Amino acid sequence: MEIRIIKGNIISAPEFGKLDITENGYLIAAEGKIRGIYQKVPQEYAEHPIEDYGDALVMQSFADMHLHAPQYPMLGMGMDMPLLDWLNTYTFPTEACFKDNEFARKTYHRLAQELAAKGTTRVCMFSSIHREATLILMEELENAGITGYVGKVNMDRNGGKDYQETTEESISETIKWLDECNFEHIKPMLTPRFTPACTDELMQELGRIAKEKNLPIQSHLSENTGELALVKQLHPDCDQYWETYEKYGLWNDRTLMAHCVWSDESERKAIRDAGVWTVHCAASNENLVSGYAPVRRMLDEGLNVVLGSDIAGGDHLSMFKNITAAIRASKARRIMDDWKTDFLTVEEAFYLSTSAAAPFFGEKPGFAPGNSLHAIVVEDESLPMVRPLSVEERFERCVYRREHGAMLAVYSEGKKIYG
Ligand code: GUN
Ligand code: FE
Repeated sequence: MEIRIIKGNIISAPEFGKLDITENGYLIAAEGKIRGIYQKVPQEYAEHPIEDYGDALVMQSFADMHLHAPQYPMLGMGMDMPLLDWLNTYTFPTEACFKDNEFARKTYHRLAQELAAKGTTRVCMFSSIHREATLILMEELENAGITGYVGKVNMDRNGGKDYQETTEESISETIKWLDECNFEHIKPMLTPRFTPACTDELMQELGRIAKEKNLPIQSHLSENTGELALVKQLHPDCDQYWETYEKYGLWNDRTLMAHCVWSDESERKAIRDAGVWTVHCAASNENLVSGYAPVRRMLDEGLNVVLGSDIAGGDHLSMFKNITAAIRASKARRIMDDWKTDFLTVEEAFYLSTSAAAPFFGEKPGFAPGNSLHAIVVEDESLPMVRPLSVEERFERCVYRREHGAMLAVYSEGKKIYG
C-alpha cells in the first residue's frame, strides 16, 4: 500500500470561518486517500518514510471553479472595456485562435503547468468552441495532475463572424466530443457560454443531453447590466435571467453559475432552491466593471458559494490572489451596504476557495479522512518577523504575500505534481 506522510504545520478549513491547525503534525494518506492528521506518527505507519517540510505550512490546495483556458494568452491585457465590448473586441478573436491544434497544445501545456505550480488542483473550466482543442486541453490537464471538469463551449449566436457555430454543428460536435472524452481525472461538463450566445434550440438540446448523460453544467449569470438588458431583449418570455436556463433543464444542483453580481432576492432564492452553485469571481467583476456581488448576503441566505479566477476577466491564476480580491470586494460591498454587511475574513475566503467546492467533487470539507489528498506546502522563512508569529498569523500573511519560490510542493489525488 502506498503511504504518504507529510510533516509540517497542518492547516485546513473544516467549517466556514474556522481553521483547524496542527502544529508540527503529520498528514497521512494511503493510496491517495487521507487517513488523518496526527501529532505523532501512529505505529502502523512507523516504517514509512516521512516527507519532512520542517516549519512550513501544509494547507489544502485550491479549487478554481470558473476560468477560461483559451483566454490564458490574453491574461493581463484588455482591461479597458465592460463585458460585452470586451468579449467582442478581445475575447472572441483570441479564443478563435484555438482552431490551431499546435497553438492549443503549446498554450494549454503551459497553462496546466502554471496551475499545478500555483496550487490549483481542481478546476471547472471553459474551453473554446473547438472539439479538438478541448480534448488537447483535457489531456494536458490530466498529464499535469490537475483534476475536475472541462467543457467545450457552445455558442451559435452573437459570436461575430469568426467565432460561432451553427446550431447543428454545436450539437454534433458536442456529442462527438463527449464520445471522445476518456480521461481518468478530467471529466466533461456541458458549457452553454451564456444565454446571449445560445439560441433556444441549442439550449433545449443541451438540456436534453445533460439529462440523458447525467452531466454537470456551467455557464454565466447576471454578471453585468448590459448583459441583463440583452437577455431581457432576447427573452421577453422570461421575467428573470435564471429562467432562461431553468426553462431548458439547465438549472439544478450540478449547475455552476459564474458571477450572479446582479441577481436580486428572487433570483437568489431560485439559486438556493435549486441548489445551483454561484461562482464568485471578484477580480473579474472589478476588471470588467461588472459590480460587487453581495457575497455575504448570498452566504447568509444559504447559497452555495465557491470562488473562480475567471481568467482572463480575472487577472490572476493564483487563487491566493483571488482570495484577497474576494476579501477586498466584500469590503467595498460593506461600504456600499452602509456598513450593514460584514466583509469576508481570511479564514472564510480560504474556505470558499477550498472546502466549499468539496461537495461538488463528492468530498467533505477540510482534510477529512477519506478525501483525496489535495494539498500545498508553503514556506515563509525568508519573510521578516518582528516577533515569533503564531501559525494563524503566518497563514494570513501567506495568503496575502509570499516570496518567489515559496510553493515547496503541490499534491493532487495523492500524487506530488509540483516541487
Ligand atoms: N460571459 C460570457 N462569456 C464570458 C467570458 O468569457 N468571461 C466573462 N467574464 N463573462 C462571460
Ligand atoms: Fe467567465
